[in-house]
Amino acid sequence: MKRIVILISGRGSNMEALHQRCTEQGWPAQVVAVIANRPQAGGLAWAAERGIAATCVDHRAYPQREAFDAALAAAIDAHAPDLVVLAGFMRVLGADFVRRYEGRLLNIHPSLLPAFPGLHTHRRALEAGCKAVGATVHFVTPELDHGPIVMQSVVPVLPGDDEQKLAARVLATEHVIYPLAVRWFVEGKLRVENGLVIQADGASQVLM
Ligand code: GAR
Repeated sequence: MKRIVILISGRGSNMEALHQRCTEQGWPAQVVAVIANRPQAGGLAWAAERGIAATCVDHRAYPQREAFDAALAAAIDAHAPDLVVLAGFMRVLGADFVRRYEGRLLNIHPSLLPAFPGLHTHRRALEAGCKAVGATVHFVTPELDHGPIVMQSVVPVLPGDDEQKLAARVLATEHVIYPLAVRWFVEGKLRVENGLVIQADGASQVLM
C-alpha cells in the first residue's frame, strides 16, 4: 500500500475527492495524514472525522521560511509517505523542501500552466480575454507553479462568466483530474524522469 500525505490550507475539497476515490475505487494506497499550515483550515476536521491523522504546522509560529519548511518536513516524514500531494496548499515551499520530495510531490493549480502562475488565476484569465481556462496537475519543482505537467482540464469561458462561476466549473474538473493523476502514481503508472513525465498506459492527459 502506497502512503499518501495531503497538504491543505483551506476547505480541502480536492483532499475530499482524493480520499473518496481512493477508498471507493480501492487504490493500492491510503491517505495516511492531512497536514495544514492554518489551524482553521476546514479540511482538518473533515479528515479527523474519517480517522485520518490531521495535524497543523502553523506557519505563523515560524518567522523564517526554512524553519517552517523543516517543521513541515518533520511532520510529513513521521508518516513515511510515498507521495505528498499539495491540495490547495497556499504557502511557497523552499528549494530544499521541494528537492527532498523530488519525483513524489504533486500539485494542482487552477490555470492552464504555464499561463497564470500565482494567485487570482480566474480573474486574470477573464481580464486577458481567455476563451478557455482550466487546471493543471504537475510535479513540483522549486520554481512556483512550474514543473513537469501530468494532466490538464480545459473549461470554456462562457458569456456572463465571472470569477466565481469560472472557479466553480474549474474546481469540478480538478476533482476529476487530480484523483486520476494520483491513481496513476500509486499504481506505478506515472513518474518523472529527467524533467519529463512518463505515463505508462498513454491515456489522454487532457480532459475537456
Ligand atoms: C483549488 O482550486 C486549487 O487548485 C487551488 O486552491 C483551491 C483549493 O481548493 N490551488 C492553488 O491555487 C495553488 N497554487 P480546495 O481547498 O477546495 O481543494
